[in-house]
Amino acid sequence: MSKLKIGVIGAGSISDMHLQSYEKNERVELYAVCDMNIKRAEEKATKYGAAKYYDDYHSLLADETIDAVSICTWNNSHAEITIAALKAGKHVLVEKPLCTSVEEAKNIEETVKQTGKVLQVGFVRRYASNTKLLKEFIDADELGDIYYAKASCLRRLGNPGGWFSDKERSGGGPLIDIGVHVIDICWYLMGKPKVKSITGNTYSKLGNRSNVNNLSFYKAADYDPEKNTVEDLANALIRFENGASLMVDVSFTLHAKKDEITVKLFGEKGGVEVEPELSIITEKHNTILNATPQVDSLTFDFIQGFQNEIDHFVLTCLDETETLSPVEDGVEMMKILCGIYESSEKGIEIVFD
Ligand SMILES: NC(=O)c1ccc[n+]([C@@H]2O[C@H](COP(=O)([O-])OP(=O)(O)OC[C@H]3O[C@@H](n4cnc5c(N)ncnc54)[C@H](O)[C@@H]3O)[C@@H](O)[C@H]2O)c1
Repeated sequence: MSKLKIGVIGAGSISDMHLQSYEKNERVELYAVCDMNIKRAEEKATKYGAAKYYDDYHSLLADETIDAVSICTWNNSHAEITIAALKAGKHVLVEKPLCTSVEEAKNIEETVKQTGKVLQVGFVRRYASNTKLLKEFIDADELGDIYYAKASCLRRLGNPGGWFSDKERSGGGPLIDIGVHVIDICWYLMGKPKVKSITGNTYSKLGNRSNVNNLSFYKAADYDPEKNTVEDLANALIRFENGASLMVDVSFTLHAKKDEITVKLFGEKGGVEVEPELSIITEKHNTILNATPQVDSLTFDFIQGFQNEIDHFVLTCLDETETLSPVEDGVEMMKILCGIYESSEKGIEIVFD
């Protein structure tokens, strides 16, 4: 059987998770790598045994042997490259966020419809083993009606700098970078209810705190402490048409005692904690039970999550299954993220019809 030929566009940090997962998938031939930084493209092509490397994504897309691409570039280029790839007849796995505006998201959705190609949004947490386990419980109605969810992803010091802190290229700060993951996982497990209204706040109070000594944090390759145009904290209350609500807060920096990640959902019959540790809460015979599923990892397993996501994308391209994170979900997520930024800017609640 002939193998699916893959190109990876954007050869920075996260590309390794894509490249190593494709490398482990037997139905794939890792064929080409592209980065505007040609040295980076060459390095990764050599490391993972790809035959070709490019510095211009148009050249990669013009190569007719390529069936599908992963897009791992800065957020502001996702829409342009995704649309070009779909039009060139490639299936696309695009990293989160889908893009940086609702208008761009709708253009991508339209192109998916026109071309009939696969588009998978990189909502990697949906593909995590623990999410799959919880989805089975939720689909079997173990939680009953889920009416509340709460998510936090708070870094006390963790503005990665570089393009991440340049609003032009990233589209925003912690909300669009890490908020997208925790909001999406709640929304997905809640059954993707339609958004009714959003109240959000963003704050740019602390800067990137490059002055802080004695505590290390992840820095982008092109880290530049002089450049920071993104928020350091965002919070929001999202109300859905079915009456459910979701409360979220995320930060790149905050005077918090320690970093925190929590994702919790509450239903009429039970609750679950996805992070910091998988837990299922219920009541039986007038007693509250906190159940701990016996699984390999109680928290998000990064490497396994990416392997599952890539394996699922490959099967979708081969027409053997359907993606768990289709373009329309990417559009809804852009509505939520942009709604939070708009609510904060205008100081009002945003209502959707
Ligand atoms: N799913 C996750 O958990 C996760 C984690 C980290 C990053 N990401 C996403 O992955 C994407 C990349 O993030 P990263 O951390 O790898 O950033 P990075 O800065 O390490 O790498 C980005 C690379 O893209 C290249 N690039 C940018 N625009 C390009 C273009 N038009 N053509 C060719 N190359 C281009 C840059 O030269 C750079 O090498 C972002 O969208 C980010 O949100 C997702």
